[in-house]
Amino acid sequence: MSEHNDDAEKEKKSNEEAANSSSEQEEVEHSDMEKIRKYLAQMLRLSDSSNYDEQSQQRVLRELSIDGVVDYIKENENCKIITMAGAGISTSAGIPDFRSPSSGLYHNLEKYNLPHPQAIFELDFFMENPEPFFTLARELLPEGFKPTPCHYFIRLLWEKGLLLRHYTQNIDTLERMAGLPPEKLVEAHGTFHTGRCLKCRAPYTLSWMKEKIMEGVVPKCEECNEGVVKPDIVFFGEMLPERFHFLADRDFAQADLLIIMGSSLVVQPFASLVDRVRSNCPRLLINKEKVGMQDRLSRLLGLRHGLIFDTRSSHGGRDVAWLGDCDTGCQLLAEKLGWGDELKELVKKEHERLSAETNAETSKD
Ligand code: OAD
Repeated sequence: MSEHNDDAEKEKKSNEEAANSSSEQEEVEHSDMEKIRKYLAQMLRLSDSSNYDEQSQQRVLRELSIDGVVDYIKENENCKIITMAGAGISTSAGIPDFRSPSSGLYHNLEKYNLPHPQAIFELDFFMENPEPFFTLARELLPEGFKPTPCHYFIRLLWEKGLLLRHYTQNIDTLERMAGLPPEKLVEAHGTFHTGRCLKCRAPYTLSWMKEKIMEGVVPKCEECNEGVVKPDIVFFGEMLPERFHFLADRDFAQADLLIIMGSSLVVQPFASLVDRVRSNCPRLLINKEKVGMQDRLSRLLGLRHGLIFDTRSSHGGRDVAWLGDCDTGCQLLAEKLGWGDELKELVKKEHERLSAETNAETSKD
């Protein structure tokens, strides 16, 4: 009996030890995983979902619709709005976006014989073979394009004192042309506005680069006579401007409303900015399709939530998707805010002004 008891005691003890060691093992694994997740979140400057405040997940919008967002803006007198944009806000100006099926730039690059469509914006490829980029640049140069009603809506937000900052991935300079002041603008993927020699870093203006590009020659540096002059567009393989990181760190934590327009939200780190607003900050997407939801890798690593249109989710209840054309969405928003006629008038006046400027320049030539 006592022997049996001893055996049972031993077995119990060894089971307990095994259980302890397996739970210790699990704890170690869990904490390793947690460390990796935290490290990744820090490196990628993503929001860390473990810090997600469940308490603050109460409904912040009266209803999850554009009307709910309009009420929210009207009720928050000093509402600090951040707008985020991609190529979709410029398509009605005649500039193609990147990923739309058939009309997107990446679907129409066969003639350049690229290893893959994105190579045209990859630094390594450009260093070896800059011709395809400059051939394409002739079509993409910000010339003759006019900002869209969506661009002027962003300007109205600024004029009304509601715009904290506009973050754009676009390189077409249409935000500047629409009259948005430089301090309100973050050109996350750089701009065509200026350029630089890749060898000696000598700076060049858009008009200098434009002349060469239109002549069909690769712009070569006149200082060192060696380097190719590349517009200050952020290529894949290059860092985003310091201004992007500096201001994003500051702005997103203070925003009261985020409006995302015309982007597929697939290019990082821009896409993850949506996770950097406070957990009770409403987010309105104005786009042809739903985008920016959590991807599988992030779900696996518990890294970012992305936009959550599913109201059953515990983190849902603040995101609204208005699906359709950006200009129509912005006009609708402006009308509901009581600025409909003002926006139409601004677009008309500014388009007339830009046409008159172009005519004056053409008659000078
Ligand atoms: P994409 O082409 O990836 O996405 C454009 C999004 O806008 C898609 O979801 C379209 O459905 C939508 N869209 C197009 N026209 C629209 C319209 N008139 N109204 C509403 N929605 C519309 O463009 P981006 O998200 O800007 O990077 O792409 C991000 C980055 O990928 C670019 O900045 C570029 C590219 O590689 C670099 O060049 C570094």
